[in-house]
Amino acid sequence: MKDYSYLQQKWVANTYPNRNIVLEKGKGLYLFDQNGKKYIDCMSNYGVNIFGYGYLPINKAISSQLSKLITLHGSFVNKERAEASQMIVERCGPSYAQVYWSNSGAEAIEAALKFAVLTTEKNKFIAFSHAYHGKTLGALSATDGDKYKKAFFPLLWDFVHIKYDDITAVENAIDEKTAGVIIEPIQGEGGLTPPKKGYLKKVQQLCNKHNILLILDEIQSGTGRTGYFLSSHEDKVEADVVCLGKGLAGGIPVGATIFTQAVANKIPKNIHTSTFGGNPLACAGVIATLQHLNQPMLDNVRKMGRYFMSQLQKIKSSLIVEVRGKGLMIGVEVKDKRNEILKKMQEEGVLVIPAGENVVRFLPPYIITKEQVDRVFKIFKKVIDDLT
Ligand SMILES: Cc1ncc(COP(=O)(O)O)c(C=O)c1O
Repeated sequence: MKDYSYLQQKWVANTYPNRNIVLEKGKGLYLFDQNGKKYIDCMSNYGVNIFGYGYLPINKAISSQLSKLITLHGSFVNKERAEASQMIVERCGPSYAQVYWSNSGAEAIEAALKFAVLTTEKNKFIAFSHAYHGKTLGALSATDGDKYKKAFFPLLWDFVHIKYDDITAVENAIDEKTAGVIIEPIQGEGGLTPPKKGYLKKVQQLCNKHNILLILDEIQSGTGRTGYFLSSHEDKVEADVVCLGKGLAGGIPVGATIFTQAVANKIPKNIHTSTFGGNPLACAGVIATLQHLNQPMLDNVRKMGRYFMSQLQKIKSSLIVEVRGKGLMIGVEVKDKRNEILKKMQEEGVLVIPAGENVVRFLPPYIITKEQVDRVFKIFKKVIDDLT
């Protein structure tokens, strides 16, 4: 058998850590490596595979579109694009009017920032400590921390990063130059700490009061991850711009920037386009995803999330600092040994991912059952016990 690990290391740019398993296929909640070893997927490829693997309605929609039309430039009309656009805007809520389609989360953020500048004619943004919005230059400017940014200074425009979950900090940071606030309703990469109840609503109220834009980055928290279609729906927060990505197109690359009529009115033709944005293949994936991300599925996310978290909170170990999250976006902060935990979980057949400096992040597909949660919990507890 060829050494694909070696080949990938040799031929792919060295920007990713190597988990050292060759994954070949997936079914349901499981991924299989080239030797047939089975892994429980508790990471959904960083939040993408929300229905697990081989979910028939999604696969059928995508494969049927594959044989019809894969790509079509946005200057031509297409049924799937028109329908997916109506569906996503309506699903986000009555305050939204249009969508701009792209191909990744970072691109969705780029569009949001440009649209905010066009709308307000200002370019100062308030962002947050530990925020993650992606790594293209605009998104990177909104992202916090030297880790990803230092090598590329100076970055774009004027971004101030303030304390998350502190409403006074937002109030103090707003001035006459401010275009808007860009915020994750629950920080993903930053460590999965939900803000205090009511915080997001207060941020919205401050934005309204000062006539600046609220940009919600729901790329990780949206598309059902917290048990609501948008995490902000739980708090009845309506933004000016919402960004989605990850699993919105059933695994086909996608970015979506959804915005109000007031923003739409300020976007001129040709100012921002993308060859692949809104391609019919991705749009067919979006339609199928929105059709199947129904109330029972969202209820399962909430129910399994609550159960999973309550189980994890039962573990008594000096290694564990805190268990937190929302829905199926769960983090366990540990004192140290985080990467050892990830490695041992993988050896035991469970795939989990890191967040922040010391957090083990669980982002399982929404189809996870109680029995599968129990299995993951048992393995996690064993790993923690062994390492404590
Ligand atoms: C909250 C958030 N915003 C933006 C991004 C960037 O998305 P992408 O990696 O698709 O560019 C991510 C990716 O993890 C994310 O979690």
